[in-house]
Amino acid sequence: MNMDQARDTLGQHFGFIADDGNEVIRDLGLPADARVLDVGTGAGYFAILLALNGYRVLTGEPQSDNSLHAKQDWQGNARRVGVGHLINFRAFSADAMPFDSSTFDAVFFLGVLHHIDEAARTRTLTEAVRTTRPNGAICFFEPNQTGIVMAREHDPSHPDAADPSQYARDLDLSLRKRTLGFFDAFIFHKSGSDASR
Ligand SMILES: C[S@@+](CC[C@H](N)C(=O)[O-])C[C@H]1O[C@@H](n2cnc3c(N)ncnc32)[C@H](O)[C@@H]1O
Repeated sequence: MNMDQARDTLGQHFGFIADDGNEVIRDLGLPADARVLDVGTGAGYFAILLALNGYRVLTGEPQSDNSLHAKQDWQGNARRVGVGHLINFRAFSADAMPFDSSTFDAVFFLGVLHHIDEAARTRTLTEAVRTTRPNGAICFFEPNQTGIVMAREHDPSHPDAADPSQYARDLDLSLRKRTLGFFDAFIFHKSGSDASR
């Protein structure tokens, strides 16, 4: 299924994520066999977007999360657009990832960091850097003002956006920020030498 058909099938919310997400995914120019991790599965929209771009995706969220945003029918969504076979799920928490160091070419968090306890955010950034290979990318999408207003239409208690750079002060990363339609994208690159092993 192509991107336009997927938008028609999954609806407007997926469409907003696709508009912003594709900007960054295409900009990164990852190789076709890249190992990519999607942290915070939710409805599966970002994992599905990665899969529609041709990548095999590992995604996950904590087993213990019983919030409004977790345990959604991401598998059903993925099947409806024909990419269920490209997405694998493993339950984990971002602040203690069950993956070897330097496993992934890119690690993505779309609409996730602000749902992680403040006390676990620095550890989350450290884990993302540890599991990303040298020169790899770590991308956070956090809602901008438009995105927050939209999120609060569905969930009036939706938290404020987080600023990932606040939690990355002691890490050897370069940062490029992009302002998109509904999200700000924080695109970090890990340095070429792997000091975090
Ligand atoms: C709004 S949803 C994300 C939307 C999703 N990325 C998508 O594209 O549909 C927030 C997600 O963050 C996850 N989350 C919350 N705390 C987490 C943690 N400590 N580690 C990993 N994921 C977490 C939730 O379980 C939920 O899946």
